[in-house]
Amino acid sequence: MTIVSKINQLKREKNAVILVHNYQRPEIYDVADFIGDSLGLCLEAAKTDAQLIVFCGVLFMAESAAILNPGRRVIVPNIDAGCAMADMIDADKLKAFKKKHPDAAVVTYVNSTAEVKAVSDICCTSSNAIKIVKSLPQKKIIFVPDKNLAAYVASKCPEKEIIAWKGYCPVHHYVNKEYIDEIKAEHPNAKIIAHPESKPEVLEVADYISSTSGMIDCAKNDPSDEFFVLTECGMTERLHREIPGKKFHGLCNMCFDMKKNTLESILDSLETERTVVRVDDKIARRARKTFDNMFAVT
Ligand code: 13P
Ligand code: SF4
Repeated sequence: MTIVSKINQLKREKNAVILVHNYQRPEIYDVADFIGDSLGLCLEAAKTDAQLIVFCGVLFMAESAAILNPGRRVIVPNIDAGCAMADMIDADKLKAFKKKHPDAAVVTYVNSTAEVKAVSDICCTSSNAIKIVKSLPQKKIIFVPDKNLAAYVASKCPEKEIIAWKGYCPVHHYVNKEYIDEIKAEHPNAKIIAHPESKPEVLEVADYISSTSGMIDCAKNDPSDEFFVLTECGMTERLHREIPGKKFHGLCNMCFDMKKNTLESILDSLETERTVVRVDDKIARRARKTFDNMFAVT
């Protein structure tokens, strides 16, 4: 029996669903019930009636699934697959920051821990951040933890005063304008699609700015047949599979945490159910409110 068949059999026996982020290893797509970006995964997690959720992504995503499913068990293939950006802020630091700006609403990117969400007003993802910020009555907005996404949102919401936390994603942050100039020289016909976690100087020259799943729609709808994709390297494989007729070039930047999950660790987590994601009840209830506030807008 192959490892994929074993996973699929256990999935049926345990009434489990496997949710997979776009950046996961391509062989993991083969056991997925749903593959998507953070917003898609949140929505899918919120509506599943499976008893067991196997979350293949990083910890903050699995925590979100647990917060949205208080009665269900959420397991991850690797409990130590975290997010460097999410770890750049904690609840105490955010509380202190809020004290400096008492009249600001706190918008927290989903790439954050449950504790940070629990002391925020509303959360957002890369695909709805602008809509969320525009929906708020406050002019002043504390935006955490990503300074690049915050700058992008600020550029689209001139009516708001965005006060950004200085976090960033190491995978996206080290791409700069010089690199883009090289790409353009090497692939003059390629359209550039960038993730909004990229620096402003990169977003300035991109043809499209989009969440990971939104990139699939951009490439499908654009008549060009060649694209350069500025995000984690796994996205190019995802795009090739979704749109086999077009050409995708990508970065060599890898999110090592996203790549910790393997078919072997998925099978082990399903067999043993050892790696359960636990969020303290009080924190989960408060964090849930920030999701509900987001769902009310989107
Ligand atoms: P998406 O929600 O666009 O998939 O982004 C998640 C992420 O971690 C990007 O680095
Ligand atoms: Fe976090 Fe960046 Fe990895 Fe996304 S790519 S999970 S933001 S470290």
